[in-house]
Amino acid sequence: MSAVVFGFPGCEELAGALVGPLGASRGELVLHRFPDEENYVRLATPVDGHAVVLACGLDRAERKLLPLVFAAAAARELGAVSVGIVAPYLGYLRQDARFREGEAITSATFAKVLSEFSDWLVTVDPHLHRYRGLEEIYALRASVVRAAPAMARWIRDNVPQPVIVGPDAESEQWAAEIARRVNAPCVMLEKTRRGDRDVEVSVPRIESLGSRTAVLVDDIISSGRTMIAAVRQLLRSGARAPVCVGVHAIFAGDAHDALAASGAARIVTCNTIAHPTNAIDLNGAIAAAVEEMVGEPVAAAGSG
Ligand code: R5P
Repeated sequence: MSAVVFGFPGCEELAGALVGPLGASRGELVLHRFPDEENYVRLATPVDGHAVVLACGLDRAERKLLPLVFAAAAARELGAVSVGIVAPYLGYLRQDARFREGEAITSATFAKVLSEFSDWLVTVDPHLHRYRGLEEIYALRASVVRAAPAMARWIRDNVPQPVIVGPDAESEQWAAEIARRVNAPCVMLEKTRRGDRDVEVSVPRIESLGSRTAVLVDDIISSGRTMIAAVRQLLRSGARAPVCVGVHAIFAGDAHDALAASGAARIVTCNTIAHPTNAIDLNGAIAAAVEEMVGEPVAAAGSG
C-alpha cells in the first residue's frame, strides 16, 4: 500500500520533502475559493487503496480548516486506506480552559473536528500548557516532533558563548532542554501579559549573562510582543543584542518589523510556517514521524 501526499498552500515544500522518505507519490490538489468565499476542493489524483497524507499547516486556521476537512472526507469516501494530517503548526491550543463563564474551549472543539476526519496527526511542538498531551483532546494517533534538537544544533553552530533565555515560564520546556544540549547556562525571565499586545518582562538574574550572548527561545512568535519586551529588557540591563530563536513563525501584523526594530541581533525560526526567517529545517524529522504513522496499521494503534 503506497501513500499519496497532498500539499496545501504553504506546505508544498514539506509535501515534496515527504515523498522520497515515504516512497510516496505526490497528489494533485485543486483548491478554489468562490466569490462568496465558499471552498471548492478536488483530489485530482486517485486515492483508492492508498494511505493519504494531507500536509496542511494550521496557523490562520479559519481559512484552512474547512478545505482540509473537505479533502479528508473526500479521501475517505474515495477509498483511502487511511487519512493523516501533517500540521507542522497546530493552531487553537491556547484556549485550554474556561477562564470566564461562557467561554468556548476552542482547543477541545478544534481537536474534535480534526479527530473526526483523520486517523492520525503529526505536528511540531504543540503549545501544551494545561494539557499534558494531545491525547487529552485528540481522539486519533498523534506524534509530536520536538524542535529542540535542531534549535540547539543551530545555536551551537551560529552563536559563540550563548546563554539560553526563556522569556516566560511556559518557554522553560524549550529553554532548559536547549541549554542542556548546547551546554550553556539557562535564565528564565518573568512575563506579565495584560493584553494581546501589552506584555511586560522582567530580568531577575542578569548577572548570570556575563559576557555571553543571550539567545531568546520561545515556541510561538505571534504578535512578537513577548520577544520585543524581552529584547528591550535585556538591552536595558546591559546585555549585548540578543538573538531570537522561535519554533513557529506566526508574525502577526507588524510583528517581524517591530521585533527587528527592537534591537535583536538576529531573528531565526524553524520552517513549520513558511517565513523569510526560517533557518532551521525540520522536514527530515517530520518525514521520519510521518513514515511511522503511515507504516502502522490504523486499527492496531491507540491514541497518543
Ligand atoms: C506563550 O505562552 C507562548 O509561549 C509565547 O510566549 C507567546 O505565544 C508569544 O506570543 P506573542 O508573540 O504574541 O507575544
